[in-house]
Amino acid sequence: MLYKVVKWGAPVLETPAKPVTNFDTPALRQLVEDMFETMYANKGVGLAAPQIGISERLAVVDTSAGEDPAMRRVLINPSITIREGRIVDEEGCLSIPGFRENVARAATVVVEGKDIEGNNVRLEAQELMSRAFQHEIDHLDGILFLQHLSPLKRDLIKRKIKKLIKAGEWE
Ligand code: NI
Repeated sequence: MLYKVVKWGAPVLETPAKPVTNFDTPALRQLVEDMFETMYANKGVGLAAPQIGISERLAVVDTSAGEDPAMRRVLINPSITIREGRIVDEEGCLSIPGFRENVARAATVVVEGKDIEGNNVRLEAQELMSRAFQHEIDHLDGILFLQHLSPLKRDLIKRKIKKLIKAGEWE
């Protein structure tokens, strides 16, 4: 099932999500499948549950955008335990379509969390996957990439979005 991706302005995007507590259930498996499907349909490389209006600490990432099943990653109740290096690169967000900006992120991260069965998992990531993990975990904390920009740049983008909202072009 495809979900609608909620866009900037929806309170759920700026609300810290609650931990997942029920593991190894058909509902959780279905939700993860639907999140991958929704992400691929929108040509994204990451999608966090708050972006489909579900305030739970769950995100999916696939830096191959559906080309390579081995690249699928599921982050449940994730936290970043190690950050190394720093890389500035362009970043976008399915909830803020049409806007891409340079964002500084750690080059390498180690993320610890749970898998669908509730087992502890530890994932190490570099390059685009590292960036995607940081971006998606930000979503679970109610943080959008705009918060990593200068106040000037952030306000400029927010003004442009508010114009789009007014014109009925932001839904
Ligand atoms: Ni995003």
